[in-house]
Amino acid sequence: MGGQASECKIIDSFELRIADIGSVDIEQLHALSMSVGWPLRAEDLQFLREFGRGYAALDEIGRVTGSAMWFPHGEDFATIGMVITSPRLQANGTGQWLMQHVLSDCRGRDLRLNATRASRRLYDSLGFQPVKTVYQCQGIVRLLDEIVIAPEGAILRQLRPADLPAAAELDAHAFGVARNVLIGKIFAQSVGYGLFRDGELAAFSLCRRFGRGHVVGPVVAADDGEAIAVVRPHVAQHEGSFLRLDTHCTGGAFAGFLPRVGMPVFDTVLTMSLRREGVEAKAAATAGAVTYGLASQTLG
Ligand SMILES: CC(C)(COP(=O)(O)OP(=O)(O)OC[C@H]1O[C@@H](n2cnc3c(N)ncnc32)[C@H](O)[C@@H]1OP(=O)(O)O)[C@@H](O)C(=O)NCCC(=O)NCCS
Repeated sequence: MGGQASECKIIDSFELRIADIGSVDIEQLHALSMSVGWPLRAEDLQFLREFGRGYAALDEIGRVTGSAMWFPHGEDFATIGMVITSPRLQANGTGQWLMQHVLSDCRGRDLRLNATRASRRLYDSLGFQPVKTVYQCQGIVRLLDEIVIAPEGAILRQLRPADLPAAAELDAHAFGVARNVLIGKIFAQSVGYGLFRDGELAAFSLCRRFGRGHVVGPVVAADDGEAIAVVRPHVAQHEGSFLRLDTHCTGGAFAGFLPRVGMPVFDTVLTMSLRREGVEAKAAATAGAVTYGLASQTLG
């Protein structure tokens, strides 16, 4: 990232300079994310900074007016997130400017991100292609009695530290890319449940503190019944509290389960990807274990 940190660009009447996102005050970054209505806590941002890299745009007196981050998974894949321009400076080219720096750092990697409506034009112009819709489901949860607890022949139990390698492997199959470092970090701060068949992990979910309450994700399962089975214990644990789950699922038992337990669709974003030419695309699985719940919108 080094050599680019001294660049300048005139934005409207503001002169912005670019800085390594690791060098800025976390409270300023928090204020920026709040200015666009994102419900992230300072701790959530700290987590993103520990794992990701990126840039902040600073005005003449050092206020953070923009950000863009990327999160590496291995050598040839990354996700992009935390792309924000302060409302007073939007539509002046800051988003493009920050993204150009991120894309330059990510040269040679396949890229995936989740685009808000406000950012579609930015990512379209950078060549990102739409993949599928993400449904942000959230609310105060309640557990309904009639819901089946575990599919027949399977054992549902809380995950233990020794289950991490199996969870990371299942996630890698579903996500299409191994992201062991991220899964390890999320696992360490989550309560997890796994569904085991013949002693093998077949499905799992992790749940951690995030934003307004807790988020369930990632959730990896082979079908709706398994996904419901591993999410249900988190609903029970957080009954009467705020829970969130971001999913690509539309229709079917799992998509029906979420609003029934108090997590209706609150908003949608669009998963988009940018692929290196001539290289087989890294895509999420569509058969076997698939991703039912995202780790988060920012992380994919
Ligand atoms: C998305 C966001 C980062 C864009 O930042 P920005 O600094 O306004 O972006 P730019 O000025 O570089 O504009 C990028 C493109 O969007 C277009 N654009 C920007 N604001 C627009 C608006 N209000 N209406 C229509 N188009 C707009 C620009 O014309 C430009 O198009 P082009 O690339 O074809 O020239 C900013 O709107 C934002 O922070 N939104 C809230 C947070 C968010 O949704 N982040 C995205 C997370 S994925």
